[in-house]
Amino acid sequence: MTESLTVRDNRTGQEYDVPITDGTIRAADLGKIKTDDETPGLAVYDPGFVNTASCRSSVTYIDGDKGILEYRGYPIEQLAEHSSFLEVAYLLIHGHLPSEEEHDAWVHEITYHTFVHENVKTFMQGFRYDAHPMGMLMASTGALSTFYPESRDISDEQNRHMQMVRMIAKMPTLGAWAFRHAQGKPYVYPDNDLSYTGNFLSMLFKMSESKFEADPRLVKALDTLFILHADHEQNCSTNAVRSVGSSQVDPYSAVAAGVGALYGPLHGGANEAVLRMLKRIGSKENIPAFIEGVKAGNERLMGFGHRVYKNFDPRATIIKKACDDVFEVTGVNPLLEIAKELEKIALEDEYFVKRKLYPNVDFYSGLIYEAFQFPPEMFTVLFAIGRTPGWLAQWSELVTDKEQKIARPKQIYTGDRTLQFTPASQRWA
Ligand code: ACO
Repeated sequence: MTESLTVRDNRTGQEYDVPITDGTIRAADLGKIKTDDETPGLAVYDPGFVNTASCRSSVTYIDGDKGILEYRGYPIEQLAEHSSFLEVAYLLIHGHLPSEEEHDAWVHEITYHTFVHENVKTFMQGFRYDAHPMGMLMASTGALSTFYPESRDISDEQNRHMQMVRMIAKMPTLGAWAFRHAQGKPYVYPDNDLSYTGNFLSMLFKMSESKFEADPRLVKALDTLFILHADHEQNCSTNAVRSVGSSQVDPYSAVAAGVGALYGPLHGGANEAVLRMLKRIGSKENIPAFIEGVKAGNERLMGFGHRVYKNFDPRATIIKKACDDVFEVTGVNPLLEIAKELEKIALEDEYFVKRKLYPNVDFYSGLIYEAFQFPPEMFTVLFAIGRTPGWLAQWSELVTDKEQKIARPKQIYTGDRTLQFTPASQRWA
């Protein structure tokens, strides 16, 4: 049986049957509801797109009430435990797990595209000494489009594949160089003998040693963090990638828009805020007073709550475990004690229970990044490197989706109309 919605327009008394498909109605069907032929049809007002589906997607599934996150149908818990970031990147982009042959070819391709043109290095060196690494990453990602002008041919599948490989391969190089720039240290070239994440750590931290090999537990923990951030369906930055990509621009420009969106504090910056909060609390004795302040509405408990997850954020559970692995190598961050106690107290407190507020992915990730000795400005760069395969999977889906059009929302116009213009010479006389 086809499902439908009957709408009665009380302005005209007319009734309309609107088909329901996949739990949605088509906005264009509402557009048919009009008072007369002269006025525009009914539209939906939805700032922030909180209840508007912009696409059909088979990349990522989230059930916020049940705390479920799946990439291409595979639960995040299983991927984090048993897979690698590059295998997950393959899964997101291709829609299926790779055979051994496909996996090896994919890893080989990515590994051998980690170098960037020397001119990229030159212009990165032109940034101010204190340039924010996200600004550098955004600019250099966009600039790659000028090095690969053929990337504009987005209708060619082989060409799209090549640009996706390049981007996944080069993001760690750009991110690491942005980090080295801020430190006034020489840029380190990729080491193709190392794994994806091992090479990234080498480009970040190598000094005079001939080879830099990070502790495998740290490599695994960072690789897991990349997996956890690899996609999250239609979030702000993915929507930016899709929106810009819908103009059929090259993928470097579309992903640069995603990096820009992630730069904003409401999206990529919460883990930094968690660290600042923990430092301010300072010791376990101060937690009860802090919680009282949160309950009185003075401030928020950063790293708690999520727009979608209302029972638990599955990524937070995995990160908590990764914390233990990292601190085994680096020594415990004293802030961890405060974080754990804060979590325990909050989870037992009626205020948080009633509002379904649980730790989100950012509650522990900042602590891990700090243990790696990343400055807070780098946290979002790490997020961007992890999110790149997700952005590309979504972009690839967009450009092959025949239903997609250039993104162009409607507005409700609230300004003046038909004013008479007086030339400046008369207005200022
Ligand atoms: N601390 C204290 N109270 C909170 C918190 C919090 N962290 N989050 C929500 N609340 C309260 C609100 O005050 C509100 O209470 P009320 O009903 O008495 O007014 C209620 O819970 C619902 O809050 P909303 O703001 O409506 O929830 P929403 O879903 O819009 O917000 C958000 C989600 C923005 C993540 C929010 O929980 C928050 O600000 N958390 C802290 C920041 C944070 O950790 N952000 C990272 C999110 S994960 C990510 O982006 C990768």
